[in-house]
Amino acid sequence: MTDTTAAAADAIDPSRRNWIAITAGVSACGAAAVAVPFVSSFAPSERARAAGAPVQVDISAIKPGEKLTVEWRGKPVWIVRRTKEQLEALKKLDPLLADPNSDRKAYPTPAYAKNEWRSSKPEYLVVVGICSHLGCSPSDKFTPGAQPSLPDDWAGGFLCPCHGSTFDLAGRVFKNKPAPDNLEVPPYMYLSDTVLLIGEDKKA
Ligand code: FES
Repeated sequence: MTDTTAAAADAIDPSRRNWIAITAGVSACGAAAVAVPFVSSFAPSERARAAGAPVQVDISAIKPGEKLTVEWRGKPVWIVRRTKEQLEALKKLDPLLADPNSDRKAYPTPAYAKNEWRSSKPEYLVVVGICSHLGCSPSDKFTPGAQPSLPDDWAGGFLCPCHGSTFDLAGRVFKNKPAPDNLEVPPYMYLSDTVLLIGEDKKA
């Protein structure tokens, strides 16, 4: 990292640290963008979490169209339960995306998420909620249609408030944006239909 880049990264550190506050405020972004409160009920102890321990998450309360944010390795991990309409909209976006098949290597996408949904189960998106540009936490923009800072044909996704990068509801970055890569897919696996383990997958 150059000095200039380091300085820029330092400058946006407050945004990075404040991701919980940012995600807590997303319900104001659109009627369909309902955020489930941050949860830590299944989380391991602070010491284990700091060491990178996997985090178990009960996803049974997430309704279609909602997002749950949990912390893993100090980072926000988003779990979005996508509606049928949101999944359908993803199919039309490939020509507009910088890396629609997640082939870039900066944040290698696990094999079980290297598909059109970018997830193990189509319904649930699981991504690290940190922009691949300089580390801000993007805001929910789940409501389709024209709105400030977004194109008129917006299908729903995320907008990074720092420099305007946009991501679809699979965490894929749109073309010609500052962010060079899609949102990172962390290792994860399902322990049951309603319990996710973030930080470990079958191959780990
Ligand atoms: S941090 Fe620059 S666009 Fe997200």
